[in-house]
Amino acid sequence: MCGIFGIITEQEQTLGPILIDSGRRLAYRGYDSVGCATLTADGTVDLRKGVGRIEEVSAKLDFAAMRGLRGITQLRWATFGAPSYANAQPHLDSDGDLVGAHNGNVVNNVQLRELFIREGLTVRGTNDGETCVHAVERHFDRNGGDMLAAIRAAYVDLEGDYAFVVTHRDDHRLYAIKKGSGLVVGLGERQAYVSSDLPSLLPLTRRIVRIYDGEMVVLSPGVVEIYSVHDGARIERDEEWYDGPIEVAEKGGYPHFMLKEIHEQPTVARELLHLLHSSPHVDRFLDALTATGDRPVYLVGCGTSYHACLLGAYLFNQLGGQPAVPVLGPQFIEQYGHSVGPQDTAVFVSQSGETKDVLNAVKVMRERKGRVLGVLNVLGSTLMHHSNVYLPLACGYEISVPATKTFVNQAVLFLYLAYRLAGRNMAKLDGLPDLLAHTIETVDGPARQVAAYLDRWDDMYYLGYGLTHPIALEGALKLKEITYAHCEGIFSSEFKHGPLSAVQDGYPVVFITAPGDEAMMINHINEVTTRGGRAIALAAEHEALRANVHDYLIVPDADRFLSPILATLPAQLVAYHMSVTRGIDPDFPRNLSKTLTVD
Ligand code: F6R
Repeated sequence: MCGIFGIITEQEQTLGPILIDSGRRLAYRGYDSVGCATLTADGTVDLRKGVGRIEEVSAKLDFAAMRGLRGITQLRWATFGAPSYANAQPHLDSDGDLVGAHNGNVVNNVQLRELFIREGLTVRGTNDGETCVHAVERHFDRNGGDMLAAIRAAYVDLEGDYAFVVTHRDDHRLYAIKKGSGLVVGLGERQAYVSSDLPSLLPLTRRIVRIYDGEMVVLSPGVVEIYSVHDGARIERDEEWYDGPIEVAEKGGYPHFMLKEIHEQPTVARELLHLLHSSPHVDRFLDALTATGDRPVYLVGCGTSYHACLLGAYLFNQLGGQPAVPVLGPQFIEQYGHSVGPQDTAVFVSQSGETKDVLNAVKVMRERKGRVLGVLNVLGSTLMHHSNVYLPLACGYEISVPATKTFVNQAVLFLYLAYRLAGRNMAKLDGLPDLLAHTIETVDGPARQVAAYLDRWDDMYYLGYGLTHPIALEGALKLKEITYAHCEGIFSSEFKHGPLSAVQDGYPVVFITAPGDEAMMINHINEVTTRGGRAIALAAEHEALRANVHDYLIVPDADRFLSPILATLPAQLVAYHMSVTRGIDPDFPRNLSKTLTVD
C-alpha cells in the first residue's frame, strides 16, 4: 500500500512544488518513506528520497528545487523491506537508466530478487518496487529497447497486485501499468499526470482518463495512449470531465485533523440525513436490500467499517426486520464465496472505497452475479464504480488515519435504512445531529480525565452489550490505534469467560451501555469491581448504574437505537486525549496507512 504520482510536461521547469503537493495528497496511503525523481531534457536523473514523512524529508532534501520534464513521487507504506533509504522509492535500475516506483505487492518478490542477483543486476534493497524496475530492465535490452515490450514481458514475471510507473532517461515518455491497484490518468494543456487516486489529480486537472486492470499507459505532454498488456493492442478511451468538488484539507485551527473531524460529526451527520431524505438512490438501495426475501443481506467491511457493519446488522435484524449478517471482507470470500448467487445482496462498506480486502470480496460477489451495494466516502473510488447502487457518506475528506466521522455516518446511514425498513417516523433521527453536538460539548472534559487515568495503563478493556458491542470494538480499536496501548473490545457477558483474569487493583474497564441494558451491565460491572477493577461507565445518566461505577462519561438521554452513535464520541475523545498525552500524533500513528490496497 503506497501512493505513486507521475508528471510529464513540454517545457523543462521546477517540478518540485507539484511533486510535493501531490505527495501530500497521497500521504494518507503511506508515510514510512518518500522520494522524488526528476529527469531533465538531456536525461539527467535527480533522485532524492528518505525515511519519514513528506514534510520532513522534502524540507531536508529540498524537493522544491527539483527541475525537469518528467517527475515521479512515491509515498511508501512498508510491506516488502523495512523502511530505509535503500527501500525508499523511486528506484533506479542497475545502471541508472530506468527510474520507477510502484504501489501494491509483488508476491514473488523474493524469488525474482534472487534471480536478478544471480543474473548480475545491481539490486540495492529488498523492496518489491525495485523488483518492478529490474523486471523491466531485464527485458529492455532483449526487446531492442522497446519499453512497451519490456513492460509487457515484466508483467508476466511480476505476480501480485500493483500499479507501477516507470521511465527511461532517453525516452521522453512516462509509462505506467495497472494490475489490481488504483491508477488514474489526468490530462493538462501541455502536461499529463498519472496517480494512484483521483483526488490527488483534481487540483491539477479535471480531464480524467480511467485505467483498468491489465492496461498500460504511455504519457506524453497532453496525451495518453492506452494499450492492452495481454496482446499489446491499442485501446481507445475518451477522457471524462470530473465536475465533483475539490476537497481542501485544512486543520481549521484544530491541533490535529482527528479533533477537527470529531467536531465535524454533527454537521456531516446533518448533511447525510438531508442527502438521504432527498436521494433517489435510497429507494433503489432499499429495493435491492429487500429483494433477497428470507435470505440474509451481507454487510461487508474491514476495521472500523466492519464495526459499522456489526451495528448495521443489529439494526437491520432488530429494528428493520431484515435478516443481515456482518462479515469481514476476506471472511466473506472464505465462508460465503462459494454459496452466494444472483439471489443475494451484499452491502460493501468502505470509507476509501479502495480497501483491497473489501474489493476482493466485491469481485467474488460480481463473479457470482450477486447484487453489489456500496457505502463509501470517496466518490470516484473503485467501490463506487463496481456497485450496482451506492450511497455516499458525505463526510468530505477524512485525513486523519483513525476513522471518526466516517464511522459515525456509516452508523447514521444504517440507522436511517433500518428506520425506513421499519417504517418508523424520522423525527427522532433528525434530532441526532443536535444530540451529537451536545455530546461533544459536554463530554470533552470528562473524556480528558478518563484518558489521564487510562494513560497509566498499557492494557484495558471496552465492554458492550448487544447494541453497544460494536461501539466497544470501535472504542478499543481507536484507543489501541493511536495510543499503542493494548485495548480489547468484547461482548460484556464474555468477560467472565476468560478475560476477567486480567483484572487487578485499579485495572480499567469501560462499560458502554444502551438504555434498557443497565441492569444486565450492572452484573458485569460488579464482576470486575469486586476483584478490584476500576469501572468506567459510558452511558446516559442512570442512578443505579452510577452507584456501581467509579467514573462516568455521560451521553445525552436518547432513543435506545441512537445511543450507540452518541457513545462513539466519548470513546473517540478518550483515545484522542490519551494519544496526545503520550506525545503521539494521532493523525499519523506508526505503521499504519489510511487506505490499504494490499492483501
Ligand atoms: C481505523 C481505520 C481502519 C479502516 C479500515 C478500512 O481507524 O480507519 O480500520 O476502517 O482500514 O478502511 P476503509 O473504510 O477505507 O475500507
